[in-house]
Amino acid sequence: MTTVRHKRNGRKEEAKQELRFIDLFAGLGGFHQALRALGHKCVFACEINEDLAALYEKNFGLRPHGDIRELDISKVPAHDVLCAGFPCQPFSKAGGQEGFACPQWGDLFDYIIKILRAHKPRYFIIENVPNLVRHKQGKTWRNIEHRLRLAGYSVDDSILSPNQFGVPQIRERAFIIGRRGGLSGFAWPEPSKDADLAIRTVLDEKPDDARLLPEQFLKYLRAWQKFLDKFPKDEELPSFPIWAMEFGATYPYEDASPEGVGLMNLGSYRGSFGLSLRGLSQEEVVAALPPYARGRAKAFPDWKVDFIRQNRDLYKKHRKWIDAWLPSILEFAPSFQKFEWNCKGEKRSVWDYVIQFRASGIRLKRPTTAPSLVAMTTSQVPVIGWEKRYMTIRECSRLQSMGALPHLPDTRGGAFKALGNAVNVTVVRKIAESLLACDADVDNSVISNAGKHLVTEFLSGVSENAA
Ligand SMILES: C[S@@+](CC[C@H](N)C(=O)[O-])C[C@H]1O[C@@H](n2cnc3c(N)ncnc32)[C@H](O)[C@@H]1O
Repeated sequence: MTTVRHKRNGRKEEAKQELRFIDLFAGLGGFHQALRALGHKCVFACEINEDLAALYEKNFGLRPHGDIRELDISKVPAHDVLCAGFPCQPFSKAGGQEGFACPQWGDLFDYIIKILRAHKPRYFIIENVPNLVRHKQGKTWRNIEHRLRLAGYSVDDSILSPNQFGVPQIRERAFIIGRRGGLSGFAWPEPSKDADLAIRTVLDEKPDDARLLPEQFLKYLRAWQKFLDKFPKDEELPSFPIWAMEFGATYPYEDASPEGVGLMNLGSYRGSFGLSLRGLSQEEVVAALPPYARGRAKAFPDWKVDFIRQNRDLYKKHRKWIDAWLPSILEFAPSFQKFEWNCKGEKRSVWDYVIQFRASGIRLKRPTTAPSLVAMTTSQVPVIGWEKRYMTIRECSRLQSMGALPHLPDTRGGAFKALGNAVNVTVVRKIAESLLACDADVDNSVISNAGKHLVTEFLSGVSENAA
């Protein structure tokens, strides 16, 4: 409920107002949970995935419409707040970055604009990946903001993460909010200064349904524990990712990549783990190089050059004990021959931390926060080192502040995909609390002033196709 204070005949009148909201691209209903907790009512939802739509109905008693492209917009009920977490794949760093040109999802933002123009809700809250802001050097972002302004809204944006609001997950997301009639009185929620986050606050004690870490993964960790044990105690562990394939490698990397030098000109060099490249066929040379050193690029980006240099220096300095340790990881898949220690100054025990098995390597983090949940795969579900197990679906739902949601998808794949796509409920609630209170103390004269401001924006000649 939003407390609205109207000035009528010079007197202030207070009224608790239940606002009507719609939830586009509804997924698990992160927006729904947040706005309902504030006393507002969902009057329409839209979700193309049949299983998620059925789950939404089970959780909230409202059957979402399917594909937004097949929606008769005039049938959407009148509403005060439009909420939308439109698909992020075209804008995500992890995807093809096709943006609005993406044939599968690129046009979906258009439907948000169409609904805003047709129904003119007072507010909107939109969420997406932070890369949306950087996509095409900011062009995509400017286009989005312009179109929202042209639809009649004052617009603001921010990048926020649940860990700033007491929830132990690092998950930066771009939020755009808008209001017809200006944003005076709106402030983004203040990130909390309290740094005492602990992943334990979302964990169950020895949950029965927890998946234990398979033996192969325990083997990876034991091998890296040996590396930590052998590393000199009086020296700080590397803060850069350890790329073991560089230990013994000499292939060129600074001015040109192996491809830049020519794959058949590498006979005098060594590839991964010091493997000689002499006399190898082109295919054999490629196979003998680390996966990150293959490919068409004639030169490596600076960050890669730095990582390779740092790893080769590390090897030079510690070669004696590294050579004795190296055979223990030679059979591992390349991803697990890479290791990131994000626990500077902490006890050197792999079992004390939150672990994530990523394509970019095994990453260890302090047990304060979980890494961002990802939708694409279940292999990156955070691992609780001290219990040698993955986090459960219910525990991960708490990372999204959805611990109270009665029903989650039945399958592990379905559940992690939906949770990895969802918006964090606490973050939306904080934003909505501030935005929907915008009308407090606003009397007609203020609204009309804000309206004038908008008109000025319109007249400034921002064109829909400007960006
Ligand atoms: C980023 S997720 C939004 C998650 C949601 N905000 C939540 O809290 O769970 C995007 C959702 O849009 C849905 N979607 C994709 N294309 C759609 C379309 N054409 N019409 C309706 N929904 C669509 C996907 O199935 C997915 O659940």
